[in-house]
Amino acid sequence: MKFDTPAGQNPIDRLKVVGQPLDRIDGPLKTSGRAPYAYERHDVVPNQAYGWIVGSAIAKGRIKSIDLADAKAAPGVIGVVTAADAGTLGKSKRNAARLLGGPEIQHYHQAVAIVVAETFEQARHAAKLVRVNYTRADGKYDLAAVAASGTMPKEEPDKSHGDFAAAFAASPVKFDARYETPDQSHAMMEPHASIAAWEGQKLTIWTSHQMIDWATSDTAETLGIPKADVRIVSPYIGGGFGGKLFTRSDAILAALAARATGRPVKIALARPQIFNNTTHRPATRQRIRIGAGRDGKITAIGHESWSGNLPGGDPETATAQTQLLYAGANRMTKLRLAVLDLPEGNAMRAPGEAPGMMALEIAMDEMAETLGMDPVQFRIINDTQVDPMKPERPFSQRQLVKCLEDGAAKFGWDQRRKPGTRRDGDWLVGMGVASAFRNNMVQSSGARVRLEKDGSITVETDMTDIGTGSYTIIAQTAAEMMGVPIDKVQVRLGDSAFPVSAGSGGQWGGNSATAGVYAACVKLREAVAQKLGFNSADADFTDGRVSVGRRSAPLRDAGELVAEDTIEFDKLSEAYQQSTFGGHFVEVGVHAMTGEVRVRRMLAVCAAGRILNPKSARSQVIGAMTMGVGAALMEELAVDKRFGFFVNHDLAAYEVPVHADIPHQEVVFLDEVDPISSPMKAKGVGELGISGVAAAIANAIYNATGVRVRDYPITLEKHL
Ligand code: MOS
Repeated sequence: MKFDTPAGQNPIDRLKVVGQPLDRIDGPLKTSGRAPYAYERHDVVPNQAYGWIVGSAIAKGRIKSIDLADAKAAPGVIGVVTAADAGTLGKSKRNAARLLGGPEIQHYHQAVAIVVAETFEQARHAAKLVRVNYTRADGKYDLAAVAASGTMPKEEPDKSHGDFAAAFAASPVKFDARYETPDQSHAMMEPHASIAAWEGQKLTIWTSHQMIDWATSDTAETLGIPKADVRIVSPYIGGGFGGKLFTRSDAILAALAARATGRPVKIALARPQIFNNTTHRPATRQRIRIGAGRDGKITAIGHESWSGNLPGGDPETATAQTQLLYAGANRMTKLRLAVLDLPEGNAMRAPGEAPGMMALEIAMDEMAETLGMDPVQFRIINDTQVDPMKPERPFSQRQLVKCLEDGAAKFGWDQRRKPGTRRDGDWLVGMGVASAFRNNMVQSSGARVRLEKDGSITVETDMTDIGTGSYTIIAQTAAEMMGVPIDKVQVRLGDSAFPVSAGSGGQWGGNSATAGVYAACVKLREAVAQKLGFNSADADFTDGRVSVGRRSAPLRDAGELVAEDTIEFDKLSEAYQQSTFGGHFVEVGVHAMTGEVRVRRMLAVCAAGRILNPKSARSQVIGAMTMGVGAALMEELAVDKRFGFFVNHDLAAYEVPVHADIPHQEVVFLDEVDPISSPMKAKGVGELGISGVAAAIANAIYNATGVRVRDYPITLEKHL
């Protein structure tokens, strides 16, 4: 189905099942431990052996020699694989560094060997006996130093509109500041893990991956085998946040080790390996300039961002939202990439917007103060209903102003006082606000739906559920379309044997994947109607029956039927700017003596199209707000600038919020439908929820203390 005109009325609009706050259909399996994760698939193939990955101890250089003798002689060892005996390995375009290093080393903890043994403990023990001699080379690990020296080999096209420099120079009120965001790690609960098994030329990998089709092609490309010979299975995933968009060493090395030993091999990355072996969100250094009239109208806005990556990697797109969020005739954004030899940087929840808004939304707070305006009001008067870079292009829906107004009223924004003037005992109390913004991307997505003999419906798609609720909203969609209760729908996900879906990334999964299920259900409805002798255009599917006028038949009378389709988006995403909006409001307490920061209240008001399931959508938003608290106050990979690695590579030292750090969180969804975004009229929410939160906290800390911190995380020594 091509989706190229705005959606009209359709069966989803009945909202009997879609739009209901239903519990997750996979919830009982998850909470009782019966949903098997990749590493737990003891059942799928017999005789599994255990692999342990050896990571490079240097960040840049070469392997001089590897001595495997002791490892090979250790108890239980079945085999050891290194680059020297792995044959020719490719590199997929989605990986910056090779997944098995040697002799050249590209980053710290790049895999250099896999040891396979009968037990986990034997593999881990033998791995410690692998002796690698390295020749270390000088590397570049300090973003500030590389950015300052001006080594910017890869330049993104600068985006501009009007004449920023002239307009900024002429602005009656000017603001210019620099911000820093650190490297961050996804720190998902389930580590990267895979079991690989060969049957002749055919490879199956049970793994933990957000994008099944990317995994299939990247595995094939890396191993140099036909895509048709690779099957990827990933039905349950314990979090990804972008860290599982890409095939990593666990999958590829399990496949290589399984081929070398003739045994199925399972590998999980140990927690201390994940931080340097896989991807992370790159640190940024940003400069924001805003020029405005005394009336507060922005006349010029400029945003530049520097970030680092390995050769072949991309810059963090931290300026993306600044092209779209506020009005202003003169605009300029620039991205600069500094080549570093740190582990590969890539997508982490709301890549671009999350770190970009951390800077932009402090800058907006600072500019409001410079103008002597309320920060909510300053944002409202700079709203735009068209893409400011292409004024002929409207937003499909844009209710930023309502999010801010409703949020301010609900939060009691009128209680906010001048910086450093509100106290509650020993606590300085402050309030902060930030806009939330994240683009709504759409991706083609396929599904197969089957009417079973008993009148129930089975949906199959390679869509994944990374803890987001995909199983449930897909079941809701099929139930609504076919007129059956949700417990008559079975959903099967995460298998490359199923039709290719949008996958879980960029907050496009929920809307795109359900739209694919919608398309397949339209076809199944036609097939059912035809079989029963009804005109499908008039047929009503309700309560397990198909009816036209007074004629009616049970759905199951149509017998077994299968339909498959893929939704494809094109023209509407060009004609309209599709984005999601929100307002984040935060109250913090800062201890007057110790500087400790406690978040006291959080509210998000979101406008993100139709909300397919308010319960699972709320969970997405509060999870994202929690991640925003981490970004504001604690998350930071400490870079060892001499040896080039992330020092705090475990969850003891890489701090993330725990329950005790998080207060009551409130989420309000505006009643919105967006017929431009898909037949579901929905959008994404999972990444909207994090975009802006950290800045709202930073602004609240400023309001509490009168001390402005522009360098995240805002640890207490920075504002004491
Ligand atoms: Mo998201 S960072 O595209 O999983």
